[in-house]
Amino acid sequence: MFVVAILSQKGGTGKTTLSLHLAVAAERAGHVAAVIDLDPQASAAGWKDSRPGETPVVVSIPASRLPQALDLARGAGADLVLLDTAPHSSEVALAAAEAADMVLIPCRAGILDLRAIGATARLAKIAGKPAHVVLNAMPPRATNIIADAREAVGVHGLEVAPITIQQRAAYAHALTAGQTAQEYEPDGRAAEEMAQLYAWLRSIMPAEAPTNHRAA
Ligand SMILES: Nc1ncnc2c1ncn2[C@@H]1O[C@H](COP(=O)(O)OP(=O)(O)OP(=O)(O)O)[C@@H](O)[C@H]1O
Ligand SMILES: [Mg+2]
Repeated sequence: MFVVAILSQKGGTGKTTLSLHLAVAAERAGHVAAVIDLDPQASAAGWKDSRPGETPVVVSIPASRLPQALDLARGAGADLVLLDTAPHSSEVALAAAEAADMVLIPCRAGILDLRAIGATARLAKIAGKPAHVVLNAMPPRATNIIADAREAVGVHGLEVAPITIQQRAAYAHALTAGQTAQEYEPDGRAAEEMAQLYAWLRSIMPAEAPTNHRAA
């Protein structure tokens, strides 16, 4: 079982959007995915309430119950667990990073967002976990912004994921309908970039994780 903590101390960067899209991408690839929602706002759990269908499993728990929830997920045969976290709570973010195999930090492209990344980068470092920044809600044709962002996050010893996510209405519309972009608009650009982001995530996971339970 591979555990990915989605962290950013800044609000509204795309933590819940990424958690849910990556979980559904994993399910669509034949793996068993679960989202553990550590945010008291419980947005991921609310999305699940509005979703027809059983998968992915989404559970909303306080961070103090994270070890037990991970044991349950392991026992239930989960291949990939996404930890969706709250902004402004370094205690919860650190607990998530410590429990995870790797950290993803969604970040919007503005300079204020990039500057705010230091606090989250420090948490990943304290936990001793590899961390990548995922640039989210980027404007189209943002080559210069991507180069600037690479430089800005490099200062914190972080790398930028090679797949960037653009600003697309499909993300918000899909979540409102209890779906993800892969389901809402299967042939759309949002579905395609999320599939690419998941493929990249798979490529940097250890070869044995996740095992393909469904296909076995
Ligand atoms: N790539 C994108 N394109 C368009 N809208 C986006 C994109 N990513 C996120 N959003 C929208 O931005 C808002 C914040 O996204 P999300 O809830 O995923 O962020 P968050 O980091 O989980 O927020 P919080 O810190 O409050 O938990 C939502 O309305 C979401 O639909
Ligand atoms: Mg959220």
